Amino acid sequence: MKKIVVIPGDGIGKEVMNSALRILESFDLPFSYEFAEAGDETKERTGHALPEDTLEACKNSSAVLFGAAGESAAEVIVRLRRELSTFANIRPAKTFKGVKSLYDDVDIVIVRENTECLYLGLEFEINSGVTEAIRVITEKASEKIAKFAFELAMREKRRRVTALHKANVMKKTCGLFRDVCRRVSKNYPEIEFNDYYIDAGCMYLVLDPWRFDVIVTTNMFGDIVSDLSAGIVGGLGLAPSANIGDEHSIFEPVHGSAPDIAGKGIANPSAMILSATMMLKHFGYLNIALKIERALEKTITNGKTTPDLGGNLSTEEMTDEIIKNLD
Ligand code: NAI
Ligand code: MG
Repeated sequence: MKKIVVIPGDGIGKEVMNSALRILESFDLPFSYEFAEAGDETKERTGHALPEDTLEACKNSSAVLFGAAGESAAEVIVRLRRELSTFANIRPAKTFKGVKSLYDDVDIVIVRENTECLYLGLEFEINSGVTEAIRVITEKASEKIAKFAFELAMREKRRRVTALHKANVMKKTCGLFRDVCRRVSKNYPEIEFNDYYIDAGCMYLVLDPWRFDVIVTTNMFGDIVSDLSAGIVGGLGLAPSANIGDEHSIFEPVHGSAPDIAGKGIANPSAMILSATMMLKHFGYLNIALKIERALEKTITNGKTTPDLGGNLSTEEMTDEIIKNLD
């Protein structure tokens, strides 16, 4: 039995988590679910956005399914990724049949370093009106994420890994990251390697996304580039992610708590459902994962979607349709 810790969190996190669990419960899986709390509402009530017992439960789990947090996201999910040493954040951006998007046939995987960079939160106020932040990039973490990206490329039979950085300006930190990626690439002659400056890389992503296959980058650039890529393939409602470590894993949509639509029952559950299918693949249930993906694709192709994808169904109704399409 695998213990899955479920953290719905704030806003639409709760709404989309409910959908993902309904889909998972359509199958006979050896999972037990333990609910835990975190986020803005928890902080308001208890003073802690990520309570100790939630953290403990996550440390003793096979995987964490996470919905979304609100303003406390840094205290909750950024901390959780670090506490569980999930060093790799995998964010696929793939066009879905039936979804209006800028281009067809885009299929990119972003591999984002998850444990260091500016998101360590080493920020200081020097004196009134002057602030600073420290960006930490290490050879060890860069090598680990670079290897992970190439291993993923080999496993998924992908042709190229592209590193994104800004080594012309951040000579030490990005310079180290770029050099380590170049060095690691030598061990994978089957996979093409190239690197771009992050700014030019963003332009290429919008104008010519097909030149990318696997992207490897540092924490903050990875955060930004994954939302950009989600925008290219049809929006945050469809963007899932996995955080993978040597011992732990967390699966969560790329989106946040979406206060502008929270409580209206119209959040697109797809990103959360696809995060759950990433969990299924991680545990080796490939056929079930593909079955869910096909049902979702059929639902979207039939126009049975939430308003963000042009339909007029609620979160619950779209979930009903996906479940119907599972057979
Ligand atoms: P957001 O991802 O919550 O929303 C951005 C836009 O996308 C909004 O217009 C929203 O309505 C739309 N959207 C997002 N997910 C959607 C879905 N499933 N279906 C339909 N539309 C969807 O990002 P935003 O607005 O920048 O942040 C809102 C709150 O979420 C903030 O408090 C922020 O700190 C938090 N946040 C939490 C994250 C996490 O827990 N992993 C990640 C990003 C933001
Ligand atoms: Mg983000």
